[in-house]
Order: sequence, then C-alpha cells, then structure tokens
Amino acid sequence: MMRSQIIGVGRGVPARVVENKEFESFLDTSDEWIRTRTGISARRVCTHETATSLCMESARGALAQAGIGAEELDLIIVSTITPDTVTPSVACTIQKMLGAPRAAAFDISAGCTGFLYAVTVADQFIRSGMYRSVLVVSVDVLSRVTDWSDRSTCVLFGDGSAAVVLRAGERGIGNAYIRSDGDLDGSLTIPGNPIDNPWNHEDARRQTIAMDGRNVFLFAVNHMTDALEHLGQTCPLDEVDWFIPHQANVRIIELVCKNLGIPREKFYINIERYGNTSSASIPIALSEAAEKGLFKTGDRIALVAFGSGFTWGSMLVEWTL
Ligand code: COA
Repeated sequence: MMRSQIIGVGRGVPARVVENKEFESFLDTSDEWIRTRTGISARRVCTHETATSLCMESARGALAQAGIGAEELDLIIVSTITPDTVTPSVACTIQKMLGAPRAAAFDISAGCTGFLYAVTVADQFIRSGMYRSVLVVSVDVLSRVTDWSDRSTCVLFGDGSAAVVLRAGERGIGNAYIRSDGDLDGSLTIPGNPIDNPWNHEDARRQTIAMDGRNVFLFAVNHMTDALEHLGQTCPLDEVDWFIPHQANVRIIELVCKNLGIPREKFYINIERYGNTSSASIPIALSEAAEKGLFKTGDRIALVAFGSGFTWGSMLVEWTL
C-alpha cells in the first residue's frame, strides 16, 4: 500500500527573542512564575516577519532537504489560525512565491492540532494515489491575537512555522487519529470579525484570545493521554523511540508521561525556548530534533497534540530520512 514519507523538514521562526523578564515591566508577573508554572523561559515574536515570510523560510528549508523543486508539488496545505489574509489563503500566496503552478493549495484551521490534521489530509491524497508530492506548512502568529494585558494568556504563546515535504513511498506515516469535540468550544476562543452591515451592527470586539486555563489544562492531559492510548493499540508505546508532543505547558507533558508510564527522556521538549507556537509546535520540535541527529532511519516517532475547537490527535511516523 502507498504510504507518505517525510523527505524534508524545515522551520522559520522570528528573530526577536522575548525573555520572561520582559513581561515584568508591564505585567504583574515574574520569570519565576512563568518558568515554574509552564516551563517557558522565552518565545519568538514577529516584528518584521509575517505568517507568509515564516512559511516561505520553512518551505524552502523543507524543499531543499527533500531535494525537489516547488514545481514538482501537487498540493500545498497550510495549517494556521492566524493567516495574514483571510483570502487569499496563505497556501495560495506561498504557492505563487515558491513557483508551484501544478499544486492545489488551501489552508486548514484546527488550532494547535493543525499539523496533525494537515498531514492526515495530505496522507489521504497520497494513499489514494491522487497526489505524489505534498508540502505541509504549519504557521501561527499568535502575537497578532494576543491580549498583552492578560497575564494568564500572553506569557504562554510564541510565533513560528515549520514544514514537511511528503512523498509517496513504501514506509512512513501510519496510525493517524484525529478527533474533535465542538461542545467544549467555550474554553479557548479567538473571535472573528463582527457582523457589521447595513442590517446588523454587532459591537466590535477586539479579536484576542480568551481562555479558561484550568479547563484547557485538564482537557489537554486527558486527551493527549487518550490519543497515545489509541496509538498504543496498534504500536505498543514501549516500542516508540520518540514522542513529540504539542508544547503548551511542560506540566501537561509530564502528566501525560506519568499517566502512561513513559520515561520523560523519550519526549522531545523545547517549550522552554519557544512557548506555545500553536500548530507550528510539533513540526518545529520535529525539525529541531532531526537537525540534532536524534532520529535514526526506521525510528518510530509518535506525534500527539490537542488544541482549540477542541481538537486532538496522534500519529505514528516511521522516520525515513
Ligand atoms: N503571572 C503571575 N500570576 C499569574 C499569571 C502570570 N503570568 N497567570 C495567572 N496567574 C495567577 C492567576 O491569576 C491565579 O491567581 P489567583 O489564585 O489569585 O486567582 C494564580 O496565578 C494561579 O492560577 P491558575 O490558573 O491556578 O494557575 P495554573 O497553575 O493552572 O497555571 C496556566 C495557569 C494557564 C499556565 C495553566 O492552567 C495552563 O497551562 N493551562 C493550559 C493552557 C494551554 O495550554 N493553552 C493552549 C491550548 S493549545
């Protein structure tokens, strides 16, 4: 059966590093509180960069490693909840900039689970035989929708992007599991534009993140545990070489390890330097770990995420690079 294999990874993150200390000048918070409650020491924040420019950097890196030209791409999927423009999609914009005239291109929105959703969709096109080469890019610029006066949310997030090139092959991605539960939508929201037309005038709201942190924390622990238990039904978790979790709070990750009896050293964690980069968090971690040479060909890597919506999921990747 045709499978999707990762043949290139790349990432693009903003240059500006914002350390916890910088929040102390305008918020009632401390480096100590942020580090001990979340595991975050710093994050990247866009100044001159955009979602599109970060995607371009990620995509170029992934294509270079894959050794293929953009003109070979059949499909480009971007996962994001913070596009530069609602239309055109980020995917169409980078299709033009990369020079990928054959590719179909669209964005998908699945919160922090976006990368797993996007790869799952790409994988279906490859397995069906419809497409051979697909670029998946995840990007979020949450600084665009952050309420910088809300200490309970603004310290958590960062901006970033990462990409993978998938190509039809014999081994690669398996066990994709994506779920959602819209009943839980109220715990984490970012409003869209208000309806303001000649027949209706809604109060204009600032489009910033509102979150019930404790609810989200519980949801995250339970559902990341569920997603890995599901993966464990087809691949015993002690046969997994690496776990790459969505990086939202190190305490969430540690509780998932504890629930499942998995040693913490098997989890690649980089939240300390990036904060929560939403849908970019898993591929940024994947690309960093790959660059450090942590993966061997044939390694089994479990990806696991949760996000707003709510959404959650897991996926097993056999490393083929
Ligand atoms: N600095 C100092 N104090 C802060 C603070 C900050 N940046 N943010 C919140 N606090 C305060 C709260 O106001 C609260 O004060 P109170 O007891 O006087 O009301 C106190 O710290 C404890 O708040 P609590 O919510 O119990 O903290 P917590 O240990 O649950 O940690 C989060 C808060 C947000 C870090 C945690 O709940 C979390 O990570 N939730 C998941 C968020 C997430 O992953 N979102 C993204 C989903 S993709």
